Amino acid sequence: MLLAIETSCDETGVALFSKNGDLIKHLLYSQVALHSPFGGIVPEIASRKQLEVLPPLIHKLLEECQCFPHDIKAVAVTFGPGLIGSLLVGVSFAKALSFALKIPLIAVDHLQAHLSAIFLERSVKFPFIGLLVSGGHTALFLVNSFEDFKLLGHTRDDAAGEAFDKVAKLLNLSYPGGPIISKLAETGNRKAIPFPRPLLEEETLDFSFSGLKTAVLNFLKNNPSFKIEDVCASFEDAICDVLIEKTIKASHQYQIDRIVVAGGVASNKRLRELFYKKAQKEGLIVLFPSPEYCTDNAAMVGVIGYYKWQKKDFANLETEPYARVIFKRYSKN
Ligand code: KG4
Ligand code: ZN
Repeated sequence: MLLAIETSCDETGVALFSKNGDLIKHLLYSQVALHSPFGGIVPEIASRKQLEVLPPLIHKLLEECQCFPHDIKAVAVTFGPGLIGSLLVGVSFAKALSFALKIPLIAVDHLQAHLSAIFLERSVKFPFIGLLVSGGHTALFLVNSFEDFKLLGHTRDDAAGEAFDKVAKLLNLSYPGGPIISKLAETGNRKAIPFPRPLLEEETLDFSFSGLKTAVLNFLKNNPSFKIEDVCASFEDAICDVLIEKTIKASHQYQIDRIVVAGGVASNKRLRELFYKKAQKEGLIVLFPSPEYCTDNAAMVGVIGYYKWQKKDFANLETEPYARVIFKRYSKN
């Protein structure tokens, strides 16, 4: 059996896979309630909580699967990018387990894991265009295989989820802002405020969302009697338009008709709706994992972990976790 661990941010995820690569079970502990009063994730609190939660969560998983530590034949863990304190908890635990049980240690990249979550529910033919939209990242990839991720574009400032969270803060809404804005937007007028669509007209496949956030701030200052639902709806559509148009541009540029969208923001109902509509019009296939696998979780870590286990692509006790995106990791061709 393969044990997968995810502790890159504020979620603690553990998963067990069978020797055939099937997911047996995964468990997730979310710290959202802990960070909510601060309006965002506090890294020191996140790592301390990871330390407290991870060992009992693994015990619980083994117990619920009626397994023992000696049944674990490999351990896969997220090495980065993410919060270094949180990453260190999972990586140190996995290294200790690898050393004690004399089993292979497998290093998994968090962004690659997100874009592989789709394989938990269905198979997808390579290559495909992958859009990763989360609280920490917004990036477009050409995914050629489980180990060949070519980065096509990345946000130059805020991630899409971060923009949702920051705009929620401006509106005095709680954290995380994405789901709350999305709910309010349902009854708002989506054309009420012409918020900008940053970089949409430009050739680049990069994104930029900090100007959009500033546009919302300026609008709120100049229109004190604004209708919150209209602000949410207009803002949500501005983000969705940019994400969809850039992804479709990439699929045309690389002549690939399959698109996979992953990460926390991929749970957004409006994004899914508009994406399906637009893709159908363009003759493209767009696939989303279930919301359960959009957010951080260890099942997605196990997908890459299992692939690397088959290939005997192992890390060792000297392999270091990394906080930042290592761009050269994603540029093979
Ligand atoms: O992938 P994720 O769980 O964590 C990482 O950032 O890795 O993503 C969390 C982000 C938050 O910024 C949250 O506001 C956003 O995903 N999010 C949403 C929705 N659900 C979560 N954004 C828009 N609409 C949603 N329904
Ligand atoms: Zn993530």
